[in-house]
Amino acid sequence: MSLPYVAFEGIEGAGKSTVSDRVRSLLESDGRSVAQVREPGGTAVGERIRSILLGHDLAPEPWTEALLFAAARAQLAAEVVGPALAGGSWVLSDRSVYSSLAYQGAGRRLGIAAVRAVNEPGLLGVWPSLVVLLTVDPERGLARQEIGDRIGDEGIDFQRTVADGFERLAADDPDRFVVIDTHAPLDEVVEAAYRAIRSRW
Ligand code: TYD
Repeated sequence: MSLPYVAFEGIEGAGKSTVSDRVRSLLESDGRSVAQVREPGGTAVGERIRSILLGHDLAPEPWTEALLFAAARAQLAAEVVGPALAGGSWVLSDRSVYSSLAYQGAGRRLGIAAVRAVNEPGLLGVWPSLVVLLTVDPERGLARQEIGDRIGDEGIDFQRTVADGFERLAADDPDRFVVIDTHAPLDEVVEAAYRAIRSRW
């Protein structure tokens, strides 16, 4: 059976962290051990890379950006996600390699296959088994966002391209993705995510 590594994905303002926090509590009240991580970050190396990527003071080129996300992720896989799964924990991740495929592959137009190819070697098979894609209308998502980071501030056309990228990824890989529309009330969204996860494991 696949390992319980679940990624929450979506564009800005989709509510990933709120939903993953609530799902974590539900899993813990079922008695499961859960490690919760976020990308980019989650390790000392990753948090430094995060500040390069998301601060407004630097302007990495698109491939520099893609490779830095991949580097932060390789560190997280080796240091946190891989060991947690090996120790029998569940892993819930706020974003994952699929954000790179959608934001850098589609959004920055680097190509989904090319971005996948630079991520795979560092991950050593540590790859989300289930992706909960939370969808929101891009205008509404941007309006929900509080403080924008460098990439979150790219604007509405960029958000639309990223949203299309996520939709394509989900359509091409229906066994891995569950798509949940977040225009529904939060309790329903959480319930749908939890049900999808429990039906898998
Ligand atoms: P974050 O502060 O984690 O906020 P949120 O997930 O709530 O949007 O911001 C992460 C930003 O980095 C977000 O704009 C998406 C972007 N990102 C990528 O472009 N590629 C990636 O691989 C990842 C993990 C994130």
